[in-house]
Amino acid sequence: MNYARFLTAVSAARKPSPIRMLTEIQQRSPPSMISLAAGAPNPNTFPFHSCSIQVKNGDMLTFDETMMKRALQYSASSGIPELLTWMKALQKNLHNPPTANYSAEKGKMDMCVTTGSQEGLCKVFEMLVNPGDNVLLDAPTYSGTLAALQPLGCNLINVPSDQHGMIPGGLKEVLSRWDPADVHKPHSTVPRVLYTIPNGGNPTGASMTTQRKRDVYELARQYDLLIIEDDPYYFLQFDKPWAPTFLSMDVDGRVIRTDSFSKILSSGLRIGFVTGPKPLVDRVVLHIQASTMHTSTFTQLMVSQLLHGWGQEGFLNHVDGVIEFYRTQRDAMLSSADKCLKGLYVAEWHAPAAGMFLWIKVKGVADTQKLIMEKSVGVVLELLLRFFCAPTSAEQA
Ligand SMILES: Cc1ncc(COP(=O)(O)O)c(C=O)c1O
Repeated sequence: MNYARFLTAVSAARKPSPIRMLTEIQQRSPPSMISLAAGAPNPNTFPFHSCSIQVKNGDMLTFDETMMKRALQYSASSGIPELLTWMKALQKNLHNPPTANYSAEKGKMDMCVTTGSQEGLCKVFEMLVNPGDNVLLDAPTYSGTLAALQPLGCNLINVPSDQHGMIPGGLKEVLSRWDPADVHKPHSTVPRVLYTIPNGGNPTGASMTTQRKRDVYELARQYDLLIIEDDPYYFLQFDKPWAPTFLSMDVDGRVIRTDSFSKILSSGLRIGFVTGPKPLVDRVVLHIQASTMHTSTFTQLMVSQLLHGWGQEGFLNHVDGVIEFYRTQRDAMLSSADKCLKGLYVAEWHAPAAGMFLWIKVKGVADTQKLIMEKSVGVVLELLLRFFCAPTSAEQA
């Protein structure tokens, strides 16, 4: 893949920050090294000494004085090594990406930690999307994506979708406006980026089938598109085996995947990940160097300690518990929808196979904004019923 052709001028112009490179060298050096180089504050001046955090299963995460000093200090822009190593092993285990053993230039799978997947998404869009570019996505989509994409001045092209996500035939139809032979011509207007939420889409609750992913991937090959796979609800798929991801099909190195720990460990810790071809992940890291510098060292160490203590099996057991919680919430919401709306023929919906969202289409009302804001608030009907907000039966009791 010629990754240079996908980069915006801003992204292509990014250069490594000398100070950030020093931080990374310092981290690989023995603790006895006294660095006079970068502006790292002396942690002896910090007011925090140590801490221990009790995990619900009784385990303790302990930050002694030395660990606390590290937790409160600057760290590498790509993420702390032990968290990255753990996550790379998990990604390989879950997705078996074909790119794992490629050379760097061929798009070897790489990863970086981001401050929530939102930071990753925003930086990926800024890396790839120029004003006037045509960007493909299934509508309606996550408002955070629109908030990041719209200011870039691109044309958002809606691809038809249903409860199984993006419809490959619809994508083919949209793409038929262009000739694949024109893709690499100068000033070509052929889209270069396709964005989708493959599981439990926000707000539609749609989840893509394996066959649809395969068909969309083939079209992406034909038109040399990059696929942005925004998958924060991957771990909230209700049925197993979980659907294969775009990352798992990526023989070319054309998939950039964003993962999130927000829905399964905590949203306030702000831990997400970008996984994709090394030449593109490197560009995201250069952007991080120039903006947040890195995700909080403290929260990365906290999550890393938890995951190393649990191992992959313990982590997946925890995920199973979270899935069961949301399954109950989903079922409660579905039975409420059945009870209140079913016989009336005023609305339709599909049971989501993943995630937190039940999307209810109200029939015969073109714009439900007024209905919701003026008539329904505080009454019974909300267009978007977020079943994760619904009280559990224990809370109701
Ligand atoms: C589809 C989608 N992508 C990304 C995000 C951002 O998640 P976070 O930044 O908390 O990882 C969300 C949050 O709700 C989301 O629904």
